[in-house]
Amino acid sequence: MQTLAIIGSQWGDEGKGKITDLLGAKCDVVVRYQGGNNAGHTIVVDKKKIVLHIIPSGILHPHTTSIIAHGVVFDPDAFKAELADTQKAGINLSFNNLKISENCSVITSYHKLLDQQRESQGPERIGTTGKGIGPCYEDKVARKAIKIKDLFNKETLKSRLQKNLIEKETLFKHLYHSSFPSIEDETSRLFELGKMVRPFACDTFSFLSECISNNKKILFEGAQGVLLDIDYGSYPFVTSSNTSFGGIHTGAGLMGRPVDEVLGITKAYTTRVGEGPFPTELHSEIGKKIQKIGNEFGATTGRIRRCGWLDLPLLHYSIKASNLTSLALTKVDVLSGLSELKICHAYRYRGETIDCAWPGIDMNEVEPIYTDMTPFHDTFKNGVLSTELTSYIKMIEDSLQIPVSIIAYGPERSEIIFTGARNFFLK
Ligand code: GDP
Ligand code: IMO
Ligand code: MG
Repeated sequence: MQTLAIIGSQWGDEGKGKITDLLGAKCDVVVRYQGGNNAGHTIVVDKKKIVLHIIPSGILHPHTTSIIAHGVVFDPDAFKAELADTQKAGINLSFNNLKISENCSVITSYHKLLDQQRESQGPERIGTTGKGIGPCYEDKVARKAIKIKDLFNKETLKSRLQKNLIEKETLFKHLYHSSFPSIEDETSRLFELGKMVRPFACDTFSFLSECISNNKKILFEGAQGVLLDIDYGSYPFVTSSNTSFGGIHTGAGLMGRPVDEVLGITKAYTTRVGEGPFPTELHSEIGKKIQKIGNEFGATTGRIRRCGWLDLPLLHYSIKASNLTSLALTKVDVLSGLSELKICHAYRYRGETIDCAWPGIDMNEVEPIYTDMTPFHDTFKNGVLSTELTSYIKMIEDSLQIPVSIIAYGPERSEIIFTGARNFFLK
């Protein structure tokens, strides 16, 4: 296996950071290709926790090169803070182990301000992270984004910021009635930050292409999850990038090589942060219990994650939308010891029974149909799974027709079982 993609198969926070860190140990290059610092990827090693937002989750391995590719929206301020945090954690980053595409679109103060004003005053809250992700991608598509390479020339930067602000100024002044930084201040701020980013900036496309030609082992690290994809997700309650498999092609490039394995990271239940429909959401005590045991708080904003039963019609859809080849089932330990256990195997939708969602399905209208599963009480101490947990996993595999290749039962690197269904990065 030369190339592996890690994709969140639900609404994000499935445990992608842990799995990327673990499998990153076996590869040469880890690539982030979409999203920005809306992501929060947690890695726990020997009880020490590190949360990464923009820097790829492969950086804990000194032999691995991390790439932030051109599809990422990049906040230099957030990068500066994360660089300091990683340095404090004893990780040294230089151009040798971290390369940032000079073609990433830059998140400016105006984007963050617009995101926050819309969320507090706009007609419909999405429940965004407030990091300016949506407004930055809007500018990219509108062909007026600031690129990282623009940060290195003050005059270019100023003129691009001027063009960028012209419409937003009207919104700040007359719609949101909010103050905003002057062009001069924003130019100086970004120009100074640009000096810090410059040593890492390069043409990551050619670097990646060379790595692929030289048969290096590459891991593509997705952020968010398929159900937050701008095209495949539960629109409009989504993020603004292609979080599914297609994002790799547009956000990094594959240079003629197929992806050998597309691993869908899947929580053993379902969670969601922010607004939007959630068919299997639990409003009962059991939902609160899962939230508490699973410590379901957002790694980026600290918000409570809504919790619900595992939803197979949505997973079935994510598998199709992202060409998933196997699943990593995470947080199974959280379900251990519950008094009841259910899996949603189908929906009632407009008079019909369906077992797979599609783009644009109205998730407010679906009625989940559940299978009662026998609760399990595993301690995971001796590596043997109970027959009840084995049945839970078999139900998933049989319904979705895809193997579960990894089972995670705790936040630590070591709390993991490889089922033998796939040999990651072993020739
Ligand atoms: P990501 O955004 O997909 O990388 O996931 P997050 O880091 O936002 O959230 C996953 C949380 O679950 C983190 O706090 C992880 O440390 C934790 N975690 C990951 N795998 C497991 C697991 O198998 N069991 C438990 N209990 N926690 C896990
Ligand atoms: P990771 O990579 C969970 C959600 C937000 C909101 C919506 C849009 O850690 O899995 P945005 O700020 O992107 O415009 O917000 O998307 N969201 C996430 N939810 N995990 C994430 O990332 C998320 N990134 C964005 O809560 O509902
Ligand atoms: Mg997260």
